[in-house]
Amino acid sequence: MVAYKSKVVERIQLPSRERRATALEEAGYNVFELSADDVFIDLLTDSGTGAMSDDQWAALMRGDEAYAGSSSFDRLESAVADVMGFEHVVPTHQGRGAENVLYGTLLSEGDVALNNTHFDTTRAHVSNQGADPVDCPVPAAHDPEANEPFKGNFSLERARAVVDEVGAERVPLVILTVTNNSAAGQPVSVENTRRVRAFADEIDAAFVIDACRFAENASFVTRREDEYADATVAEVAREQLGYADALVMSGKKDGLVNVGGFVATDDEELFERCKQRAILYEGFPTYGGMAGRDVAAMAVGLREAVEESYVEDRVEQVRELGAMLEEAGLPVYEPVGGHAVYLDAGATFPGIPADEFPGQALVCELYREGGVRGVELGSFAFPETDRPELVRLAVPRRTYHREHFEHVVETAAAVLERREEVSGLEIVSDPAVPELRHFSAALEPVSAEAPTAVDGGLE
Ligand SMILES: Cc1ncc(COP(=O)(O)O)c(C=O)c1O
Repeated sequence: MVAYKSKVVERIQLPSRERRATALEEAGYNVFELSADDVFIDLLTDSGTGAMSDDQWAALMRGDEAYAGSSSFDRLESAVADVMGFEHVVPTHQGRGAENVLYGTLLSEGDVALNNTHFDTTRAHVSNQGADPVDCPVPAAHDPEANEPFKGNFSLERARAVVDEVGAERVPLVILTVTNNSAAGQPVSVENTRRVRAFADEIDAAFVIDACRFAENASFVTRREDEYADATVAEVAREQLGYADALVMSGKKDGLVNVGGFVATDDEELFERCKQRAILYEGFPTYGGMAGRDVAAMAVGLREAVEESYVEDRVEQVRELGAMLEEAGLPVYEPVGGHAVYLDAGATFPGIPADEFPGQALVCELYREGGVRGVELGSFAFPETDRPELVRLAVPRRTYHREHFEHVVETAAAVLERREEVSGLEIVSDPAVPELRHFSAALEPVSAEAPTAVDGGLE
């Protein structure tokens, strides 16, 4: 049941078919390069793209812009204490700022960090410290058809194997990402969280939760983990996060704001060290790279994120989009995760090999067909891994309605209908940082490259 109505609206329009084809070509077949004005339904990310509530807009107007000791920061501190259970907060401009502050404090050259799956920026920040990011997903995580309740879990078997190989002294940090964004937004059980806590104690490592989507994760726990069937989302969230030594948070997800983030901890010494690093990279510790008004809006958003009426509708909306796509014949990753529906592009285009990026081909065709923007998370984004060829359709919070989803489904069904005509892509210009190439590499259709007697001069 939808628990909100619109008060402010934004006009959107579907550009003509010709414009879409031109825009795609001009963008180098990389949808990150499209102008948002050329996009009709934007499912590129759920990060910072949602709608704020009237209470958040009201808080924004009352934001305190004091450089030091802002009252907006006091509100954030008490929201983090009430909702997440941590006493100390270091605000940052967004999640990756929090990663820089915390991982820059906890990691050194030669260390190993374990994570159920490192999100792109997490991996990049761990590497930036000279440390090695090692993923420990459960085997089902990368199987689009395994219908298991907690495919986001951390594999202790894999983690133990890594520790046996490198030695516990090289592993000062264990991270748990809830939900597991890079494994199709799949949830992590509280039981798994407890076991990861015990494992971190065993090897004497710090245990950090990447809490970006903590409320969505807690909602899955109440639905799928028997022990929590009668618990509220707010209760589960506090318990699950409470197992960690520290949190990194991107407020752009379950903080329900367009920008912001923070580190939270109860550890005095870690707090002091994080504050020092935050001053260097983010700003004074009571604003941390945000305007006071943004801090104020995030304080309200965190409380709204664990309201049952909000989060149940949120998770249900994403599930419904997945069900509609599945009914239209699209191969959907099962079960549908918290913030996005993932399509299996390998199964959609069995004739396109991994090195011609079937996922990127699907992303381009969704745009060409209906102005729908998704993102590739397969061989293009993750070279040299054996992940499935997924395309993510991320749902911004409190933004789109069923009619928008009907357009997305019609678009995807039309692409499926003409799947035989779709060709793969190849990279024609590559950026310097290979981990981040999907944000800016330019591509072109493989068929456009095929030399012909006319344009290739071959006789
Ligand atoms: C799991 C996870 N961690 C960290 C981040 C980084 O957050 P931000 O985009 O706010 O820098 C993201 C962003 O998508 C994420 O999904």
